[in-house]
Amino acid sequence: MRIVMTGSGYVGLVSGACLADFGHEVVCVDKDERKIALLQSGGVPIYEPGLADLIARNVEAGRLTFTMDLAGSVPQADVVFIAVGTPARRGDGHADLSYVYDAAREIASSLNGFTVIVTKSTVPVGTGDEVERIIRETNPQAQFAVASNPEFLREGAAIQDFKRPDRIVVGIEDERARPVMEEVYRPLYLNQAPLMFTGRRTSELIKYAANAFLAMKVTYINEVAELCERVGADVQQVARGIGLDNRIGSKFLHAGPGYGGSCFPKDTLALVKTAEDSGAPIRLIETTVAINESRKRAMARKVIAACNGMVRGKTVAVLGLTFKPNTDDMRDAPSLSIIQALQDAGACIRAYDPEGMEAARPMLRDVTFASGPYEAAEGAAAVVIVTEWDALRALDLPRLKGVMQGNVLVDLRNIYRPDVAEAAGFIYDSVGRGM
Ligand code: UGA
Repeated sequence: MRIVMTGSGYVGLVSGACLADFGHEVVCVDKDERKIALLQSGGVPIYEPGLADLIARNVEAGRLTFTMDLAGSVPQADVVFIAVGTPARRGDGHADLSYVYDAAREIASSLNGFTVIVTKSTVPVGTGDEVERIIRETNPQAQFAVASNPEFLREGAAIQDFKRPDRIVVGIEDERARPVMEEVYRPLYLNQAPLMFTGRRTSELIKYAANAFLAMKVTYINEVAELCERVGADVQQVARGIGLDNRIGSKFLHAGPGYGGSCFPKDTLALVKTAEDSGAPIRLIETTVAINESRKRAMARKVIAACNGMVRGKTVAVLGLTFKPNTDDMRDAPSLSIIQALQDAGACIRAYDPEGMEAARPMLRDVTFASGPYEAAEGAAAVVIVTEWDALRALDLPRLKGVMQGNVLVDLRNIYRPDVAEAAGFIYDSVGRGM
């Protein structure tokens, strides 16, 4: 198969590299000249474990190339994916689809022979219909079908998620797209991954319904954690106790500072809007969004409480800034709100993150960035762990305590044992461990 991937951002780049690895011939396209130049010279614009090697291997094999020339690549393609960004529109929370529609227009004018155009970007229900309309309007002679194929990969585990998916969902309205999409994913369903064909609107909704459900699951355990603290219970054991019930499942039950990232916050908001506009409001997700927002501020209050209600003029070290480990992505990271709230209360912030500091710098004002966890903690009254990076899981606690002025450790990911932290001389707080 000859495949064009329109948009070489996170999803486009990972999907393009993985599809090339299956043996397809893939061209990744982007409008960003610097990004394409970097990729052409062997660089990788994002941090994702394993991606650099995967790209290098497939470039060398001649199956993966990068270009800015979308119009020149489309005529040879059997399948053209659209994997451009769909940021939340300022003001109303709806997904901004202008990049998707621009791509559709550009693709339409250079179609040659039957081509399947596939939206991989997360797009609201009905976007496939509009893409089809735009292509027909731009090029009435074109032979094409529009399919929806949402992506379920997680940052930090993206390659593994792409190659070993729980399922592949493909929404079609034109049967001619079915054998083409079967061919694209043949290596996967030979591996037993269920390839599920649905209508296009159903497929579009599956993506939002899945992300919103997961966001709700995380939010649920966060609220249970709050209750655990009040009644003297342990949220990790509650999570295990309920998760062993197969109907519930053990994943996405880690209590923490609230969900963040480029997907859950945006997708929950977009689903709320779509549901509201359709006259079928999803109140569980409306509530999820509100609880998650207040959760982040509550985490700052937890830190302040651990410091005897006073952080004014004190130094607080924040360890881990990205919305989760193994990524350099700072979008909607809980650390941003937590730091802001601590600064509002008068704290001076020193921060450290293994991969996210470059992205964090322009997003954070008046923060000192340190070269390591111990450097960040120097002279601090309190240390707060916001992201559970492996590099932060095995800190030498007595050493950490030794460089600090104070003795407060607030662990928002429960990566330390309370008795061990206390033995090192810390006043230790975590989430949902009210024992
Ligand atoms: C999420 C979904 O998990 C993917 O399936 C989906 O493809 C992706 O969005 C997307 O729409 O593109 P991602 O945003 O990379 O993936 O990150 P997750 O691993 O889902 O984590 C999201 C947030 O929830 C993070 O802030 C994480 O710290 C938090 N989380 C997750 C918890 O606090 N507890 C958990 O148990 C799990």
